[in-house]
Amino acid sequence: MELLRTVEEVRRWRAEVRSAGRRLGFVPTMGALHAGHRSLIDTARAANEAVAVSIFVNPTQFGPQEDFAHYPRPLEADLALCREAGVDAVFHPEPETMYPLGFCTWVEVRGPLAESFEGAVRPGHFRGVATVVLKLFEIVQPDRAYFGQKDAQQACLVRRMIADLNLPVELHVCPTVREADGLALSSRNVYLTPEQRRMAPILFQALQRAEAAILQGERRAQTVIQIMEETMATVPEARLDYAAVVDPNSFLPVKTISDDVLLLLAARFGNTRLIDNLPISFPRNA
Ligand code: PAJ
Repeated sequence: MELLRTVEEVRRWRAEVRSAGRRLGFVPTMGALHAGHRSLIDTARAANEAVAVSIFVNPTQFGPQEDFAHYPRPLEADLALCREAGVDAVFHPEPETMYPLGFCTWVEVRGPLAESFEGAVRPGHFRGVATVVLKLFEIVQPDRAYFGQKDAQQACLVRRMIADLNLPVELHVCPTVREADGLALSSRNVYLTPEQRRMAPILFQALQRAEAAILQGERRAQTVIQIMEETMATVPEARLDYAAVVDPNSFLPVKTISDDVLLLLAARFGNTRLIDNLPISFPRNA
């Protein structure tokens, strides 16, 4: 496995992969790799002759009050996981490599997709994500890129950016990997106290109750939202940021459920913010 630190090193490696006629699958990450990341890597490994992973804690997607400085950076363990998973190259740049002095070009996705939910709670977050993802695409030049359903709004925004900017990248969104008790794996789960960790599966339980109601015929989004809110309220330690039923492509709120929808939840446990979601295929024959 190659550890690449500069843009020039990636370009050289990329040229070799291309001239060998190997298709390149790419998994962008911020490190602190877990089984969720691993599933993206495995999916990329199965479908491509070459696989690259980036490990870069991107400063521009963190707000001033967020956890950039404290974000976990267990590089050796991350490299071991990548090696074990058969990754061909890891790109691990310094912040100055990605954002050299004088950097002033940004990718800004506008509209509800970028400005609602995560975009509303974390101003500037998606500008940082879109900018770094476009830069990583330009540096690595993958044939296919792998993102997680866990960050549904991010995946949707990247899909939009690929379409809007005619990027020659095929996007693949992989299912959310969960702990046995339903908690979606996240690098931020390590911040939870043992007590908060015990309570955290309430997010998935709320999503599942809402799903059950829809499968039983509930079509009013407001009622579905209420089910999620009431379930979350059974855990006083959880402070709900939002519960929503949205169109999975536009992220616009849905009033009446008559097609596929996405259930969204975000809540804080102490200082730790957790998000989760559940895609619902509209039960057409129900
Ligand atoms: P990070 O949080 O490290 O996540 C990297 C990728 O792993 C994302 O596509 C995310 O959706 C996916 N992922 C995380 N947890 C998952 C889980 N439990 N199941 C399945 N996939 C999961 O997302 C980022 O980094 C950054 O914003 C990035 C795209 C790298 C840009 O900086």
